[in-house]
Amino acid sequence: MYTQGLDQSGRGDSAKSGGESKEQLDAFQARIDAEEKIEAKDWMPEAYRRTLIRQISQHAHSEIIGMQPEGNWLTRAPSLKRKAILLAKIQDEAGHGLYLYGAAETLGVSRDQMVADLLSGKAKYSSIFNYPTLTWADIGAIGWLVDGAAIMNQIPLCRCSYGPYSRAMIRVCKEESFHQRQGFEIMLTLCRGTEEQKAMAQDALNRFWWPSLMMFGPNDSASKHSAQSMAWKIKRFSNDELRQKFIDVTVPQADFLGLTIPDDKLRQNEETGHYEHSEIDWQEFFEVISGNGPCNKERMAKRRKAHDDGAWVREAARAHAAKKADASAAA
Ligand SMILES: [Fe+2]
Ligand SMILES: [Fe+2]
Repeated sequence: MYTQGLDQSGRGDSAKSGGESKEQLDAFQARIDAEEKIEAKDWMPEAYRRTLIRQISQHAHSEIIGMQPEGNWLTRAPSLKRKAILLAKIQDEAGHGLYLYGAAETLGVSRDQMVADLLSGKAKYSSIFNYPTLTWADIGAIGWLVDGAAIMNQIPLCRCSYGPYSRAMIRVCKEESFHQRQGFEIMLTLCRGTEEQKAMAQDALNRFWWPSLMMFGPNDSASKHSAQSMAWKIKRFSNDELRQKFIDVTVPQADFLGLTIPDDKLRQNEETGHYEHSEIDWQEFFEVISGNGPCNKERMAKRRKAHDDGAWVREAARAHAAKKADASAAA
């Protein structure tokens, strides 16, 4: 999925950091300006490293937590085919989390530390995964809108200045586009079905539209530090630019489905060609981000339980590694 407005908080680290000379910083910026990729062992400013660790780990956590709302429908998918597709999609999300934890580890942070920060509530994940999936149509809406928004965010990340992150994004984006199409296809099937099925699709759109727009993070005016991420070419477009692209692509898709976007102010500006929309309820967004969304507690409780239930696997793997190390030392 994803995340960000991966940095949904809109925070960023300042460029200044002790012990870094102007020459080092200038040479680093010159590499960025020349579109060179920065690799794990290259010198980088501490603030660049910290910004990436926060963004990539937040992205990884979003992939992992994002498995839960969809997992809720695995046993109730309407057919064996739908179940197999949904299972494959959720497994893809686990894979995305793993590539991303791997990419973040190249910056010198351990996986244990990242997981501890998630479980303690210090690290954030995308706000969207704190909404419940009440009907099967929600699985369609998530694929169509949530994975669709994730693609909008992640395509520019394939050109991110940090090499390991940018390369991980290429495969992730290919898989996300499959996810988006499977979601749209669920919606299309429901919209061509009975009145009741179409009403279910409309209801899912009503509930997921605004939270999907919030996925891009706060308005540019409220996200002061993204200028530094743009200068470092971690980010290529602002939150509002990405949100606008998403709306412009998605509104005609809703028309094709015969569904109505739940925004009575939505209209296309004839001069710019862009869709204008109502103000987003930022109060809701900040509530969800700060832990008070409909499912935050449930999501975290489930993740903590999964972590605890997996303790024996980690112990067994460690014991096996120690045995092998002893055996090869004795040989
Ligand atoms: Fe994903
Ligand atoms: Fe996805």
